[in-house]
Order: sequence, then C-alpha cells, then structure tokens
Amino acid sequence: MTSAPYGLLAELTHRCPLHCLYCSNPLELQAREREMSTEDWLRVIREAADLGVVQVHFSGGEPLLRPDLAELITEARGCELYTNLITSGLGFTEQRARSLVAAGLNSVQLSVQGENAEASELVAATKRFDKKREAARIIADAGLPLNMNVVLHRLNLDRLDAIIDVCREWGAERLELANTQYYGWGLLNRDVLLPSREQLAAAEQVYRRRKAELAGTMELLWILPDYYEPFPKPCMGGWAATALTVAPDGGVYPCPVAADIDTLEFPSARERSLYWIWAKSPAFEAFRGTGWMPEPCRSCSRKEIDFGGCRCQAFALTGDASRTDPVCTYSPDHHLVEDAVDKANAPRTTTPDPVYRRVTTSTR
Ligand code: SF4
Ligand code: FES
Repeated sequence: MTSAPYGLLAELTHRCPLHCLYCSNPLELQAREREMSTEDWLRVIREAADLGVVQVHFSGGEPLLRPDLAELITEARGCELYTNLITSGLGFTEQRARSLVAAGLNSVQLSVQGENAEASELVAATKRFDKKREAARIIADAGLPLNMNVVLHRLNLDRLDAIIDVCREWGAERLELANTQYYGWGLLNRDVLLPSREQLAAAEQVYRRRKAELAGTMELLWILPDYYEPFPKPCMGGWAATALTVAPDGGVYPCPVAADIDTLEFPSARERSLYWIWAKSPAFEAFRGTGWMPEPCRSCSRKEIDFGGCRCQAFALTGDASRTDPVCTYSPDHHLVEDAVDKANAPRTTTPDPVYRRVTTSTR
C-alpha cells in the first residue's frame, strides 16, 4: 500500500484580485459556479484527515474570497490538522483575522510581488500594495507567524535587496525566494520572466549575503531556478508520493499543475473518496515509483533522487508526461530548455508583451 500523503492543498477558488504573470493556475480558470460547496469541502477535509494528511494549505486564487473559510479551518483543526493560509492579503481585515484565529488557523503565507506599488503593479496588474502592507500588520498583530513569499524573475531579481528589506520591515519571520517555475501563465510569459544567467548569479550573491546577515531574525529560503540547473528538481517528492491537491471544482491531482495533463483522466472528490483516489485511481498510479520510466531515467543512478523530474514540465514542454523532464542534461528534449535559456541571454531588440492572468470560462 502506498504511504499516506502528508499535505493537502485545498484550492478553494480560482478567483483572485491579482493577475500575476507567473501564476501556475491553469490557463482555463474555473468560474465561481463550478466551485465546490461548503459541505463538499468539509467532507474532503475529513477524508484527508482519515487518509493520514497532517497539514492543509488553504489556497487559490485567493482563499479569502470564500466566506466559509473560517468554517473549513474549524473543521480541519477539529480533525487535528495543521492549517496554513496562502494569501495575497487582499481582503485581510482585522475582523477576518479574528475569525480565522478563533477558528484555529496556525500560520499564514503572504505573497508580495515587488518592493513598492509600481514594481508590484507591473507583475500583478493591481494597485493594492498598501493593502498588502496592512495585511502584514494585521497578521502580526493577530499573533500569527508571518511567512512571506516572493516569486523571482527577470522583472524583479535586480531589486532583491529592496524586496528583502520590505519583508523584514513588515515583520516576516521567514521569506521564501521562489524562482519562477514555468507552468500555466508562467510558461505563457516565459520570455518576459526568464532571467539572464548574469542576473541570477548576482541575485544569488545577494541571497547568500542577506541570509548570513539576517540569521536568527528572518529565515531566507532560495528555491532553485530549474532551467539553470543540470538536473531537475525532485518535483513533489515524486508523483503522488507526498501530497495531493483538490481544485475548486473538486478535481483531485498529485500536484497543483497536473490539471493541464489532458492525457490523464483525473478523478473528482465529488464522485470518489480521497482514499480511493489516492490508493487506486489510475491517474495517481500512472507515474508512481520507477517502473514507468523511459530511458535515460530507467538506467540512471539519480532515478531515486529526482524521480525523473517533473511530469507536468515534461508534458508542458513535450506533450508527453512520461518523458524525462527536459531540464535534465541527459534528456533527449533538453534543447527545449537550452533554447529558452539562450534566448533569455541574447541581446534584446524588443520587449515581449506580458499576458496577465484572467478568468475565461472553463468548459472542462
Ligand atoms: Fe533524473 Fe532521469 Fe535525468 Fe537521471 S536521466 S538525472 S533520473 S531526469
Ligand atoms: Fe506537477 Fe511537477 S508540477 S509533477
């Protein structure tokens, strides 16, 4: 029997006041009418706890747009789950904070897109930087640990020092510096977002210096830019190995991006139990272990280290989720990544147009 998943990512809604260029949500966002009811989510939370999940991350879109968020947190805490809220901060009022704390919320991860209103608007196409500052204050005043996250890319890497200063000033205990992963809207905007090698090297120096300076006051984490790595990341600790994601409409996936893999039929939490989905569904079984691997992974000494990389990246770049992740130096498709990197490092005569995340009606 497959071991139990550790975490549940509950994507309560795809609705969001931000329009970030790097969003990993699917291009076909789900409209409000397709979202699961409170009753459905309460059942999913109970089933996750029965399955062995220990942490639930409430995410989106913007989860604060769901009026039943406190009710869902109460249920999760009643099932002895650790609860984390992943939010843009927009809509985080003092009254809302009180209700979430009373429900038992354990921690919050607040995203920022840049060090000031202008930088933030360039990435998120929303003029609400002051609301984020206010949210950080409310979170800290409510006694919740403030974790912050900033996605790094060509448009903000050069200002990493200033971004770290802002997060420090706002009271972050932990700051995740996440180099962009190219899925969903991020892949669509790859030419806009993929940095040059020089930019990355300079930013990594800043990260190392600030990490040492801030030791003991704010923890800094650096999420690797995988296009510049020789080997892929061990995505999700392997397919359907450690966590599961439930999308707003009840679709259940081994990771937040897998909905894009249209060659697999993913089950729905409206129709099947999480137990069946995790233990028996063909989509979750598809890439478990190492038996599915093609060459060069099958005879590679790293196959138990990176599990052949990311299935979603393989699908996004080659149309076949069972291929070796093209990030890998040994992959026969590695030129797809090399070409993008070469383009990012070549002199530019024009600036590519950004495509901001927006909801279009989904029919799937
Ligand atoms: Fe990982 Fe496969 Fe590349 Fe080996 S060949 S490093 S297992 S992705
Ligand atoms: Fe889906 Fe990597 S993001 S397996």
